[in-house]
Order: sequence, then C-alpha cells, then structure tokens
Amino acid sequence: MTFKSTSLFLFGILVSFCSIAQDYPTDYLSASFHADRRAAVKKQLSDKGVGIFFAGQTRQRSNDTDFPYAQNKNFYYLTGLDEPNAVLLLFKQPVSLLGKTGTEFIFVQNRDPFKELWTGKILGVDGFRAKSNMENIFINEEFKASTLPMASIDSVFSLFRTEGIFNKYKAKEDALSRMAGTVDSLIATSKKPVATRSTLNIMRNLRGIKTAEEITLIKKAASISALGHNDVMRSIKPGMKEFQAQAIMEYHFKNNGSEFPGYGSINGSAENACVLHYVTNLKTIKNGDLLLSDCAAEYHGYTADVTRTIPANGKFTEAQKTLYEIVLAAQDAGIAACQAGAPMANVDAASRAVVYAELIKLGIAKNNMEARTYFPHGTSHHLGLDVHDLGPSTLLPGVVITVEPGIYIPAGSKCDKKWWNIGIRIEDDILITEKGPENLSAGSPRKVADIEKMAKQKRVIQN
Ligand code: GLY
Ligand code: MN
Repeated sequence: MTFKSTSLFLFGILVSFCSIAQDYPTDYLSASFHADRRAAVKKQLSDKGVGIFFAGQTRQRSNDTDFPYAQNKNFYYLTGLDEPNAVLLLFKQPVSLLGKTGTEFIFVQNRDPFKELWTGKILGVDGFRAKSNMENIFINEEFKASTLPMASIDSVFSLFRTEGIFNKYKAKEDALSRMAGTVDSLIATSKKPVATRSTLNIMRNLRGIKTAEEITLIKKAASISALGHNDVMRSIKPGMKEFQAQAIMEYHFKNNGSEFPGYGSINGSAENACVLHYVTNLKTIKNGDLLLSDCAAEYHGYTADVTRTIPANGKFTEAQKTLYEIVLAAQDAGIAACQAGAPMANVDAASRAVVYAELIKLGIAKNNMEARTYFPHGTSHHLGLDVHDLGPSTLLPGVVITVEPGIYIPAGSKCDKKWWNIGIRIEDDILITEKGPENLSAGSPRKVADIEKMAKQKRVIQN
C-alpha cells in the first residue's frame, strides 16, 4: 500500500465513522451528567445504606405486543440506559461485590442474538461501558442473593418504602422481578434489622432543580410543541375531527425528532373541552366550537406541557373571548408570581384570585367556593422527565413548572346558558431564574388577536 492509498483508506474510515456518528441523534444527556447525579445521590445515603434503582418494566399491550418501552425516570436520570431488566446499586462508602470494589454497580441485560434479531441491539456490558463512564458493570444473571454485601448494609433506599417493597415487580416472570424478589427476601431474612427507606425526597430535590443540559432538552421539547400548536391554529376548521387536529400536532413532534408525546394528547372540542384529561379525540369539531389542545412533545426523555384553546372557525365569540381574557389574565398573574425564592403556592394563589374575582363579577359564581367548581385543578406542577415531575415547593432557580389556569363550564351549570360548554385552559412552561420567569413555550401565541391572526395563515402541512 502506498502512502497515498493508506491516507485515502484512513480518510475513508474517518468519513464512514463520522457518518455513523451522525446517523443517530447525539444530543442526549452526557455520561458526566449521569455520573454527577449518581454522586449527588450517594452523598445523601446513610453510611451503611444502599440505593437500589430498578429499570422500568416492559408492559404488555395485548397478546404478544408490548407498549413502547418507557424507562423508569429515576433510573434514566442516574444511568442514561434505556433498556429493561437492569438494576443500579449505589453506596456511600466503597464495598466489595463480585470481585470489584466501588460505590456504584450496575447489572444490565445480556446480549442475545435471538432477541436482537427481533427487536434490535442490546448494549450488554461492553456497549454500556462504551456509553457510560461506569466501571462495575455486570450482566443481570450475576445478581443473586449472595451478590449483595448484606454485612455492610443496614438500610435499603428504594422507590417504595412499604414492606414487600418489590411486590410491584413480581407480577412478571422476567429478570427484573427475579432481582426485585431477591432484594425482598434478603431484607426479610436478614439476621440484623434492615431499614427500608424511600428515595423520594432525595430524587425530588435533585430532579426538581434542572441543570443546563436538562434545560436545553426541555427547551427543545417546548419549541417542538409550539410548532405543533401553531400549525393546529393555522389548520383548524369546522368539520375537522379532534383526532385530525391531534395528527397535525403529533406530525410536528415526530418530524422534529421527538420520540413520543409526553402524555396522552388531549384534544377536546365544545363540551369535551370541559373534560380535564379528555384523550378520546373522536368528535367532529363544529363551527362556533372551541378546541382545547393540551399536547406536548417529549425529547430525549424530557417533556413539555402546553395547552392552547382556539376557535374552530378562527374567531372567538364574545362569550368565549370574555372567558378567554380572564384565563389569560390569570395566567399572566401566575407567571408574574414565578419569582426565585417564592413558594410555589404563590402561583396558584395569584391565578386563582383573578379567576374567582372575575367569575363573581360576571355573575357566573356567587362566591369563591362556587367559582372553584369552574377551576377545579391546581395551577402548576413541576415539569421535566415526567410531565408531573418531582420538585421542591420553593421556586428555586432551575425549577421548571407549568402555569395553567382554566375555566370549564359544562352544560347544566348554574349560570346563564351562554357560558355552557365553554372550556378554556392556557398552559405554558416556566423556567425560574434569578432574573425572573422565562417562558419556554412562548413560541406559540396566547393572545386573542395573535391566535386569530395565526388562524388566517397558510398551514404548514397540506393534505
Ligand atoms: N397536561 C396534563 C396535565 O398537566 O395534567
Ligand atoms: Mn400540565
């Protein structure tokens, strides 16, 4: 081989390596993010405690068809591994286990040519080592009763604190259930007492404050969600089915690399807008109806949560507009209350005060108690790996919450009929910063005039 042909050969390898690298997304959470998160958990364990984090279970949909696999979010946060039948063990102090000494050990599913023929590549020990910076990686068959160093353990931190903590997993005959059962019986048969402790507080405080890497992914999820909402605003017309609005929305999610909607897409027109989590999405949208779309994309594990309420024919009626402006004012008041250091309860109080006062002014409600029936849910929840995420009750910088007031007046309510079957919710995703609230879903308009203007624009998808 000449020097020239060798360089060409090496160049060819480099090109094909780069194209393989670019064939799949590369903007996931980094290995060092997961390592930092494990370090933060380990710090909070007791000296002789072990944190045990199981992967999510596979779930049967029907016969031999499963639901798409959804990793357990704590497990994902700590490992970045998106496969079932795995368990992570964390210790504060180094222990020896299967010939290795360390503070973190993971047991993953083994590679299996037959399974990989049907459902794709399994990472196995080598694949996960290349992807993570963990050292003590074993196949799950090695997780046995003799594996856990019970002499060095006096407490087990896990998701469930009750006795028989792992009963939940035992329904299935898989590696996960077997490993969970092993832990259960080790606790039950231990000669010295072993306390069972919940990981909830640890995970709430960690997952509730988002790092820069997480915020990048939530921003991406929110901006993809805005694309979907905006195109539904442009496309909606009387005669369209609720599921067609959903199809336009979800086209944009998938088309922009979102793996899944972050939760079941809610697309309710007319009376269906008064059902808070309406996911049937089967009705024909009629002239004069409002459509409430509560839909958002999940991107690399992180979800947005966005709601827009829009008129089917592109123009709000007077009654719809009156109530819409109240919800918008309530949302603005809630967003203004998203100040670093403030209690999260301030946001609900600010939005609720606007809705209650205005409903009473309009004669729709006689008092706050009656007004509450028209705004029956909380204004905010944390947002992140889960749509209803874990987080602290104080709005610290890095917290992301929704602000989503609503008014829902089902037919038969004790008020003028002109308000019946109007359901309105406006929901945005707010990042708490030292400089004030940042609206991550501001890419989709909220104001009446802006929504009506967008309804006149040309749609992006043609059919
Ligand atoms: N997006 C649904 C909810 O927040 O409950
Ligand atoms: Mn929400």
